[in-house]
Amino acid sequence: MRIVVTRRVPEAALVELRALGEVWVSPEDRPLTPDELRKAVEGASAVVSMLHDRIDASVAEAAGPGLRVVANVAVGYDNIDVPALAERGIAVTNTPDVLTDATADLAFGLLLALTRRIAEGDRLLRARKPWSFHLGFMLGSGLQAKTLGIIGPGKIGHAMAKRAEAFGMHVVYSGRNDPVEDLLRVADVVSLHCPLTPGTRHLIDAAALKLMKPSAVLINTTRGPVVDEAALADALLSRRIAGAGLDVFEHEPDVEPRLLELDNVVLTPHLGSATVETRTEMALLAADNVTAVLTGAEPLNPVHH
Ligand code: GLV
Ligand code: GLV
Repeated sequence: MRIVVTRRVPEAALVELRALGEVWVSPEDRPLTPDELRKAVEGASAVVSMLHDRIDASVAEAAGPGLRVVANVAVGYDNIDVPALAERGIAVTNTPDVLTDATADLAFGLLLALTRRIAEGDRLLRARKPWSFHLGFMLGSGLQAKTLGIIGPGKIGHAMAKRAEAFGMHVVYSGRNDPVEDLLRVADVVSLHCPLTPGTRHLIDAAALKLMKPSAVLINTTRGPVVDEAALADALLSRRIAGAGLDVFEHEPDVEPRLLELDNVVLTPHLGSATVETRTEMALLAADNVTAVLTGAEPLNPVHH
């Protein structure tokens, strides 16, 4: 059986996959182009995919009738046309749970970096600018007694809430069936943890940003297109809101250029799950899902549409 891995993964996962069949790993240090991806999957029984791979009907067709499972090494699976694959009897799996804490840690880290001006202070020192301690120097704002609004109360949202409670924050939630407006009006911090779906694309647009407090900040560690990035840049430039901490971008890997100029924005390059431990667990879980399907068992983490 041929197993295609679209980008390098931790060795432990390859060891597991090699026990099942012939494993091809992309040698490229970049995402495969759509054409390269279609070529790579020819004859595959399983594909281990990354969140930057668009897996649609054309990829399934290119693989041929032997394709049984696409194991995405991510909790999000907006890059996969699940109905098109399901129609062809191809299982789709993701990697939930193993990245919950790592992602919540990064979200909270962005929040602290923003409200306590950590990245900005680091830039100041590296620019070798003169400075001295004084009582009004580089004041941020405290999190204690502030309200965190969690949009998307899943596992990562709840892990974020737990961290916030430890810091003395109040937490409010908004899920799929609650109007987000109430949360936007009261939250001092709005943190996004909903998956990207047609219903959440541009959930945070100009109108939503207008509802936020001028003192509020936005944290996004889910998927870039949940936020209208141009509208966010407008809101930050006009001080409609106080700041943003962003790990994901609407047109990844590109970043809206105006955001790069702003000191009240902290940016990281999609590092939510990026710890040695978590990435290893994610790759192993994807391999476990491939093993399950190719040995005739039920997938461990099937996704449904
Ligand atoms: C990362 O963004 C993931 O969905 O796992
Ligand atoms: C992800 O696992 C989530 O439900 O937030």
